[in-house]
Formats: sequence, structure tokens, C-alpha cells
Amino acid sequence: MENSKNLKDIKNCGKKLGFEEERSDGSKPSFEEQFLKKIKEEILNCQKCSLRKFRDENKYLPVIGQGNHNADILFIGEAPGLNEAKTGFPFCGASGRILEELLLSVEIKREDVYVTNILKDRPPNNRDPEAQEIEVCLPYLRKQIEIIKPKVICTLGRYSMGVIMEYFGLIDKLEAISKIHGKEFEKDGIKIIPLYHPAVAVYNGNMKEILKADFQTLKKYRK
Ligand code: URA
Repeated sequence: MENSKNLKDIKNCGKKLGFEEERSDGSKPSFEEQFLKKIKEEILNCQKCSLRKFRDENKYLPVIGQGNHNADILFIGEAPGLNEAKTGFPFCGASGRILEELLLSVEIKREDVYVTNILKDRPPNNRDPEAQEIEVCLPYLRKQIEIIKPKVICTLGRYSMGVIMEYFGLIDKLEAISKIHGKEFEKDGIKIIPLYHPAVAVYNGNMKEILKADFQTLKKYRK
């Protein structure tokens, strides 16, 4: 995995891209903010798969990600649902409320983490992401990871777990989510922790307890 760019490389690259403009109040947006803004523009203009047509037909928004640009903990879900596509924000419906409750249970503020998805656009009828859609969207996620530089990546749900573990060369460690949820894997200095998707806990209190127990692992990574 190509996660080697240090902040100096990123700053040099940002300068080449003309990134040092000032805001009207004289302050300068951080390099992370400017890079993430650039990714947002790329995604807004992306025409590489059929989800773009679906976005336009329904006047949906792409969901880039939300949170702290220097977060130590990055959560990666599967794809935006209806609420997310309407607002442009990840995990803003029922699953998002569960995610916030889980974060609260370990005293982590949502604004201190970063939340995104494998796919940036909503698939029709919330169907599973297709291979070509993942291929198109992964480079955006790769750039987000390079810029945010999380210490920990928590995958939400088996789909995100599969994609991220394969991406980080951990395919030999991949097992059913019922076997490896809450376990820590490490690659390139980043911890990967597969978690159940918060949606499983919307109507199932037992699953919420399992998720809460897994979230305890995150306590040692909070700032
Ligand atoms: N489910 C996801 O996987 N992502 C979202 O953003 C919302 C629900």
C-alpha cells in the first residue's frame, strides 16, 4: 500500500498545486483541508461509473467524508444510504445515531474521528457495491488515508472489512466477521480493526452490546 507520503511531501505537492491561498479573514486553510477539498472536487466531477448517473437523476450528493482532518481513528463504512445521499454527510441516519452512541460509550467525540465510506455515491436500492465501483472509488479513499494518516482504521461491516483487508494485503487474515470483529491487525504501521456495521444494532440490543465491547478497544487510541 502506497502510504508513504510524509507531510513534507504533501506540503511540497500542495505548493505545486497552488495551495497557499488565504481566506478572506487572512487565515490559511491547512494542507489537509486543501487536499481533501481537491478530492471533493474530483469526486463531484467523477463520471467513471454508473452511480454518477443515479446521483444526478435523483439530485443526490456524493458523500466524501466528515470529521477531523488529523484524526487518529478513521471509520470506513460501505456506501451512502438515502439520508446520506440527500444530505452529503456520512452516517447521518439510524446507523449514524448508533455510531455516535458507541463513540460516546468510550468517550470519543464524533468530531475527533473521520468517517467515510468505500463508495462515495449511493448504489440503487442500497445494493452491494460492484467490483468496478470499488475500483473507481478506492483511489479517492487511498488519498484520504494518505492525507489524514490515521493510526487506526475501523471498518464498519463485512463489505468494508473485505475491501480494506485485501487492500492492505491482509487477505490471508480475512475470516468471517463473526470470527474477527474487534480484533486488531497491523499493516504499514496502521491498525486495522474490523467492526460490525452499526446498522446491525438498530433493532438488535445484543448486537449493540457486542459492538460496545469491541469499541472498548478504541479507548487506548483516543486523543
Ligand atoms: N451505511 C454506510 O455504510 N455508510 C453510511 O454513510 C450510512 C450508512
